[in-house]
Amino acid sequence: MTHWRIRGGESLSGSVRVQGAKNAVLPILAASVLTGCETELQNCPRLRDVDASLAILRHLGCRAEWDGDTVYIDSRGVSGYTIPEKLMLQMRSSVIFLGAILGRCGCARLSMPGGCELGPRPVDLHLEAMRALGAHVECVDNVIDCAADGASGLSGATGLSGAVIRLALPSVGATENAMIAACAAKGATVIENAAREPEIVDLAGYLRALGADIDGDGGPVVTVRGFAPRERVRYRVMPDRIAASTLLCACACAGGDIELTDVTPGHFAAVTDVLGAMGCRITPASDRVRIARSGRMRGGGTVVTRPYPGFPTDAQPLLMAASLCADGTTVFVENIFENRFRQAAELRRLGALIRTEGRVAAVTGVERLRGADVLAEDLRGGAALVTAALGAEGETVVKDPGHIDRGYESLDGTLSRLGAHIEKYMN
Ligand code: UD1
Repeated sequence: MTHWRIRGGESLSGSVRVQGAKNAVLPILAASVLTGCETELQNCPRLRDVDASLAILRHLGCRAEWDGDTVYIDSRGVSGYTIPEKLMLQMRSSVIFLGAILGRCGCARLSMPGGCELGPRPVDLHLEAMRALGAHVECVDNVIDCAADGASGLSGATGLSGAVIRLALPSVGATENAMIAACAAKGATVIENAAREPEIVDLAGYLRALGADIDGDGGPVVTVRGFAPRERVRYRVMPDRIAASTLLCACACAGGDIELTDVTPGHFAAVTDVLGAMGCRITPASDRVRIARSGRMRGGGTVVTRPYPGFPTDAQPLLMAASLCADGTTVFVENIFENRFRQAAELRRLGALIRTEGRVAAVTGVERLRGADVLAEDLRGGAALVTAALGAEGETVVKDPGHIDRGYESLDGTLSRLGAHIEKYMN
């Protein structure tokens, strides 16, 4: 197994480009099935989950190939509407293919994506949205079966009808599934209480390029009015706001002065606002941001995770890592996922003082962290351990960093370019 050995205590400097967004590229790849056309998707991050999506696309009958950071997809040859369990389990967000396959074929059969390390991962809102559009949905033996009345098979009439879909929660995935399936429905669909994340806006941009008539994305009501398919689409995936937040927190932890390019600072303002209040100097520009941290940071007060534009749950473990040595207390209230403080136990091995109770974690800043052996148990929690290790004295070994590769093109490589000492080794 590969481990990462990190020697802490070096401040970071330099400039790096931030990868394309994992959470934007995945729904866009799924949506490429919706109509038979060729997509040239630029700025795709090379991630395991992206490769898992390409494997699903190929299984469905698409051609899907990498060329540099561009993925070419030809979905004219779609010949199937099922995704076997083996492919579904490789990527938890594979349920996002539901709306696209249903929209293309009038039916879809997928195995349940299952829970994950963040707690249960229900898909009830996704299924309700498909039902609202007229699909019959059954879940038997862990398989989701969806079919619309009057569907005439692959690429024919889908049998879906536009509807008002009121989401009980502004779920990102359910909003994406509803938007994609609604493109294939007859008549207008109004999605109320929609998620407002930038990745929703990016998906809407791709769907528009594909020929959809959509508005309201980025706000709480998204309307999909119709669809006039195009044959060829070129689209560029937005920058990854969580990868950017990770590098900002890494600099906050290690100290130093770095610049991130190819970013949209407005997308992660909730994170830079807190880092700024804690004493980092943040200088945003249109497509770049600079962060500098020299003296000791102050505690961050209370940070509550909320749907966009609130503080993102995915950045919570990273900011927690950055707050460990701050002078004062930072309290985290996790509102989105049940089990999102798993990093706390491993961070304590580095000497962090963290108390957790239910959805609240309180960090009391310590003078210094000390290197230790820690286990990366999930994607962002694993990145948080790496972040904290950069600010710790001595050597930290992060075991099982495979989870981290699900979300970062090469976090170790990027941090090394900024001056961090990270060495990969096998044992
Ligand atoms: C997406 C992101 C993930 C991020 C999350 C919240 C992708 C690939 N993943 O996940 O990185 O942490 O948004 O910003 O984009 N829920 C239900 N029923 C449902 C669906 C969701 O109860 O049918 C609940 C979830 O359990 C969770 C909350 O809604 O508590 C938010 O989940 P959701 O917004 O759907 O997250 P994902 O789309 O899965």
